[in-house]
Amino acid sequence: MTQLVDRFGRGHTDLRISVTDRCNLRCTYCMPAEAVFRQREELLTYEEISRVVAVATRLGIRTIRLTGGEPLVRRDLPRLVRMLVTIPGIVEVAVTTNGLLLAEQAGLLAAAGVARLNVSLDALSDEAFERITRRRGLAAVLAGLEAARAAGFRSIRINAVSIRGLTEAEIVPLARFCREAGFHLRFIEFMPLDAEQAWSDERVLSGDEVREILAREIGPLEPLPAADPGQPATDWRWADGDGLVGFIDPVTRPFCERCDRLRLTADGQFRNCLFSTSEWDVRGLLRSGGSDEAIAAALLACVAAKQAAHGIGSPDFARPARAMYEIGG
Ligand code: 5AD
Ligand code: SF4
Repeated sequence: MTQLVDRFGRGHTDLRISVTDRCNLRCTYCMPAEAVFRQREELLTYEEISRVVAVATRLGIRTIRLTGGEPLVRRDLPRLVRMLVTIPGIVEVAVTTNGLLLAEQAGLLAAAGVARLNVSLDALSDEAFERITRRRGLAAVLAGLEAARAAGFRSIRINAVSIRGLTEAEIVPLARFCREAGFHLRFIEFMPLDAEQAWSDERVLSGDEVREILAREIGPLEPLPAADPGQPATDWRWADGDGLVGFIDPVTRPFCERCDRLRLTADGQFRNCLFSTSEWDVRGLLRSGGSDEAIAAALLACVAAKQAAHGIGSPDFARPARAMYEIGG
């Protein structure tokens, strides 16, 4: 049983770790065009991350997801994976990547023990890919997906952010591609975590709207019962055959009451939510001779302060000071 239980009875077993705020894309819903990154020495070392994870597993963390920024731009990520998978209590290490460097690294990540991959891909035309990410790279991502499959990864997920006025035209091509290629596609609603603060309610293209487009253009979808109660996505199946499409609707269907996630930023701060406005400094503890008990106390304090829900849409909602790439997806 996890000791990481908050005031609302939610137990936490999943820790999302950002390994860098750097990225080789500049997605408009995440980063500014000109980003300023943390200095190398501000980031936790792999040894420091492993120590935090060892303490966290003693409190009940079981699964790890490595994110960024873009985690594959950090040097030798497989080394961190190898360290984490051997920590007693850890049952799964997964990675969320934009796929640009997957062609080179998929085999190494699989060999190191990564259990699952999520690849972010919002568009299937070069033009739309560049408009969304401010960089070229569609061909590299597609090659990365193939390499991931060749490396033995199963149930590869593709995450696509839906934004009104930006991604509508990509929805149907993405769904067809994923269905044919056997990738599990998930549409994610646009959240107010973009560095340029261009988010607005009107730009949220809801999961329901995306599903209507898919049903109209491709065919009917049937809801599936949730496989795992903690998962934020609702999955649907094509009525006429194989393939799943999932919807993560943090804005129109918040899943906060089922949230089992905690976060560690690349610069060593615990957060209890993407939208957390406080952070608990673990890097300071690590670098000032802090004990394992002190690290555990910081994580417990972080959990104890978790709010019931993110409150997007409520009048007193305040955006966090940091954007997605600085927090970790
Ligand atoms: N809203 C929704 N999803 C976002 N992501 C990044 N920024 C946002 C945002 N503002 C997604 C990325 C990636 C995951 C880590 O988070 O596309 O799939
Ligand atoms: Fe990079 Fe991911 Fe942010 Fe895009 S969403 S800029 S790929 S960190």
